[in-house]
Amino acid sequence: MYRTHTCGELRISDAGKFVTLSGWAQKNRDLGGMTFIDIRDRYGITQLVFNMDINPELCQEARKIGREFVIQAKGKVEERSNKNVNIETGEIEINVTEINILNISDTPPFTIMDETDGGEELLMKYRYLDIRRAPIRKALELRHKMSLETRKFLDQYNFIEVETPVLIKSTPEGARDFVVPSRMHPGNFYALPQSPQVFKQLLMVAGMDRYYQIVKCFRDEDLRADRQPEFTQIDCEMSFIEQEDILIMFEKLAKHLFKTVKDTDFFYQFPRMTYKEAMEKYGSDKPDIRFDMKIYELTDLVKHKEFKVFNEAQYIGAICATGCSEYSRKQTDALIDFVKRPQIGASGLVFVKCNPDGTFKSSVDKFYSADDLKSWADRLEAQPGDLLLLISGNKDKSLTALGQLRLEMATLLNLRDPDIFSPLWVIDFPLLEWDEQTQRFYAMHHPFTSPKPEDIPLLETNPKEVRANAYDFVINGIEIGGGSIRIFDENLQQKMFSILGFSEEQAKYQFGFLMNAFKYGAPPHGGIAFGFDRLVALFYGATSIKDVIAFPKNNAGRDVMIDAPSLIAEQQLDELCINIKKQ
Ligand code: AMO
Repeated sequence: MYRTHTCGELRISDAGKFVTLSGWAQKNRDLGGMTFIDIRDRYGITQLVFNMDINPELCQEARKIGREFVIQAKGKVEERSNKNVNIETGEIEINVTEINILNISDTPPFTIMDETDGGEELLMKYRYLDIRRAPIRKALELRHKMSLETRKFLDQYNFIEVETPVLIKSTPEGARDFVVPSRMHPGNFYALPQSPQVFKQLLMVAGMDRYYQIVKCFRDEDLRADRQPEFTQIDCEMSFIEQEDILIMFEKLAKHLFKTVKDTDFFYQFPRMTYKEAMEKYGSDKPDIRFDMKIYELTDLVKHKEFKVFNEAQYIGAICATGCSEYSRKQTDALIDFVKRPQIGASGLVFVKCNPDGTFKSSVDKFYSADDLKSWADRLEAQPGDLLLLISGNKDKSLTALGQLRLEMATLLNLRDPDIFSPLWVIDFPLLEWDEQTQRFYAMHHPFTSPKPEDIPLLETNPKEVRANAYDFVINGIEIGGGSIRIFDENLQQKMFSILGFSEEQAKYQFGFLMNAFKYGAPPHGGIAFGFDRLVALFYGATSIKDVIAFPKNNAGRDVMIDAPSLIAEQQLDELCINIKKQ
């Protein structure tokens, strides 16, 4: 028997027992007369003690044990004189009577402790060692618990988990596909699913009624902290439902996870905000509502004075940063630099300091009177001591820039508390998005999303104004999930394809199977997918989803541990009839 207990199990009540532990040697301290080894496994750490006076041979043996050696220790549980309150086994130690080295280890490339000295690339290259560290291990344990609770919840509501294929034809989720060449059909490629979207809809046609899957999705897109090329969704679809049914069901799922995993209750219905309101008040379709600092439009108040920039702008909006009127030149310059970053895209920033003595000081004093500035401050309900920040220009761009500035100010003012969770639904997304570059409409969600029935006539006259039965689930400024009610009428679906610029041929080529299925009695249906990695990261307090994925890719999309992607052998290319173009 390798062990009688785990390394995290023994307590003071076990004192006197003879036990056997197996695990990795985390630390070896030789204090002359005594040698101490911390033995670690998934469950915890226990201190082993060897006494030179009592058993010098055993002590000599213990001294040979290096970091990460796999060892087995037998001995007696004893109360520690020097207790360690930081670990659960800290009241006891094992007075060792027998030690066996089960395997030796090279010196690990970084310290395998909660705080490590390894850089990110090194940790990823040796991810199997990184996972030995408690912070990563705990993230994976949390992930497991969340998938288990998700399954329990959905099972209780009659959802069944159905696996869908991974080698498929392109699914339209807006990113690039990863493709896999077919050996048996030279020149042909499978695509990896960006989501199981079409399959879950086919399962509704097939009468499965309630489907879910905790499923890998693949998207070839630029990576950031909350994006990986392969990621996991809690993917769901339901029949004979309306938007309201979905929002109620998945709000329940979210509350179930908060309750069972984080012991957090929400006794209220999550707020719902239209896309329009989210954009106009928060400058984002995923507003962080942990704090207020809403955007106010000032266009009507600031026009028709001498200030050309505002006179020429389509829109002028502002936020109010509480208690920041005494910002120094250096601090305001930093904010100007921030909004001028290419990814924020504002041309500048106007300040109004609402001084504690009730006077105003602004960067546009030349053009506006104190009364003007006061009227702006009144609109924002600013108090003495606050700082107004104004951005002007194209309406949509100014709103998103103000949205970014709002988040930046909240970060500077410590308003984004990771222990507070503020979920909401964003609803009534536009159905279509116009792309200037290609001069055509794209589906904002995907081409199967249903327009609001009352907006269908606008498809002909003013497609930009058509709202969709689409919704996102947002927590703390992170898009956790998204979904929609689907089109289940063949004609409407065809019309949608034509608005999206698919010729009949193209639509048939890409989605013929779905259109065909819709001929055989598709039920009204809709669904949603939660980004599982994002949800786990949020629950864990991680800033990147990489921290909650066992074997993630780096920001360049590489798995540095197994060294992928990589070249393949000439023979494999020949079998696939593929020639590599010279770059
Ligand atoms: P959507 O494209 O909105 O919807 O994706 C659903 C959720 O998946 C997460 N997500 C990602 N997470 C990590 N890395 C990525 N690259 C990534 N891309 C998306 C987000 C997002 O909210 N088929 C539809 C769902 C439906 O309509 O039912 C879909 O995939 O949290």
